[in-house]
Amino acid sequence: MQILVVDDERFNLVMAKDIIEANIDNCEVILCNAPENALAKLAENDIGVVLLDIIMPKINGIEVLKEIRSNDNYKDMQVIMFTGVTDKESFKICFENGANDYINKPIDITEFTARIRAAVKARQNTLILKDMFDKMAKQYTELQEVTQKLKDTQFYLIQKEKLASLGEIAAGVAHEINNPIGFVASNLETLEKYLAKIKCLFTVYRNFEKVVADVNVSREDLLREKQCVEEMAKNQKIEVVLEDIDPLIKESKDGVERVSKIVRSLRNFARSGTEDEVTMNDLNQIVEEALLITKNEIKYAANIEKEFGTVPHVMCDKGLIGQVLINLFINASQAIKSQNRDGMGNINVGTYQDGDFVVCRISDDGPGIKPEHLSRIFDPFFTTKDVGSGTGLGLSIAYGVIKKHGGEFLVESDFGKGTSFSVKLPLTAKKEMPEVI
Ligand SMILES: Nc1ncnc2c1ncn2[C@@H]1O[C@H](COP(=O)(O)OP(=O)(O)OP(=O)(O)O)[C@@H](O)[C@H]1O
Ligand SMILES: [Mg+2]
Repeated sequence: MQILVVDDERFNLVMAKDIIEANIDNCEVILCNAPENALAKLAENDIGVVLLDIIMPKINGIEVLKEIRSNDNYKDMQVIMFTGVTDKESFKICFENGANDYINKPIDITEFTARIRAAVKARQNTLILKDMFDKMAKQYTELQEVTQKLKDTQFYLIQKEKLASLGEIAAGVAHEINNPIGFVASNLETLEKYLAKIKCLFTVYRNFEKVVADVNVSREDLLREKQCVEEMAKNQKIEVVLEDIDPLIKESKDGVERVSKIVRSLRNFARSGTEDEVTMNDLNQIVEEALLITKNEIKYAANIEKEFGTVPHVMCDKGLIGQVLINLFINASQAIKSQNRDGMGNINVGTYQDGDFVVCRISDDGPGIKPEHLSRIFDPFFTTKDVGSGTGLGLSIAYGVIKKHGGEFLVESDFGKGTSFSVKLPLTAKKEMPEVI
């Protein structure tokens, strides 16, 4: 460690240097007999301890001390006043301005050595502490980075899971959309043909109008033209056409409404979940939308029985809760399919209020869950499905989503008989919820 001794008396400098070098290990003593150069010496070297005379020409030791303490780089430096002054007031000023200690002149070797040694030790301890603090700060930054990475990974997994489920149900959704689009297109074609018939009739009718307007027209001509109009109407089956138009239009409007409903549900489901999407929502509507999206996945496996209660709206992220329900419906349907049974299975979905919660309970009469698996189904990557068909993330993500809402996620299963999952959302959920999960 470097020790700077500032004193205008050469004798004191030499004496201090000799004593330090003889008694304290690993120290380099730098001498300065002009206080105006002291700061330059500090800047040039890596000084740990300064020994500072008080009464010196040009600048006194207290001024130098003030300069040292005004510089942030030197705030941990040990400064010992080295002085013949003995009055208490001077010491008070020194300590007030940041001196760590003082040594009286003339030098007493034992006291001098002990005080310098203490200053060196204090400086070393400060350096160790500083080093530890820097390491801790670095570790804290690293920890923050790791936490962020974990969050990103988790978010990525959620997105991936969402996409996987989306892929799985895409075919079903395409089918659901295809059907109404098919009959709307066919209705439009029919309406186009009807329009052509009406146009034909209208042309004949225009002609008839002209004949009627002619003052010289004979009664026979008039009747002939009238007959033309009637024949045209009969040939084109205008009566049937007119009767058919209204139902065709109504059916097409219903079809278009069905498509937009599916698209709306999909949009809710596919939303990223990063924004604050927490709003007041009707759980029954979220269940309906989840059913609409999974309808095709379920319809060849199970009958769905709905028992919707009148439930108060709750604060929740509709997209995320919808995703949880979709996963539960798909799980139930896959469980029933895995039994390869002859007839259809049953899925019952009910909503009700239970104290301070609204609940959606989804029960199936599938194979049930083995008791030894029951405590593991919420673990990420736990799956009993074949490699490639299940990631085992559905329930763990659903669990995170429900917990984030301050809710409860419960399972009951009777192995061999069926399974029930209950999603419970609190009526008094906070408006703001932290990041995704
Ligand atoms: N309704 C259910 N009936 C029987 N077993 C179920 C049911 N729901 C979940 N399980 C069991 O819990 C396991 C974990 O379910 P989870 O939804 O987390 O993953 P997964 O369905 O296997 O895969 P993924 O959801 O990623 O496609 C399933 O593999 C299955 O063994
Ligand atoms: Mg699943």
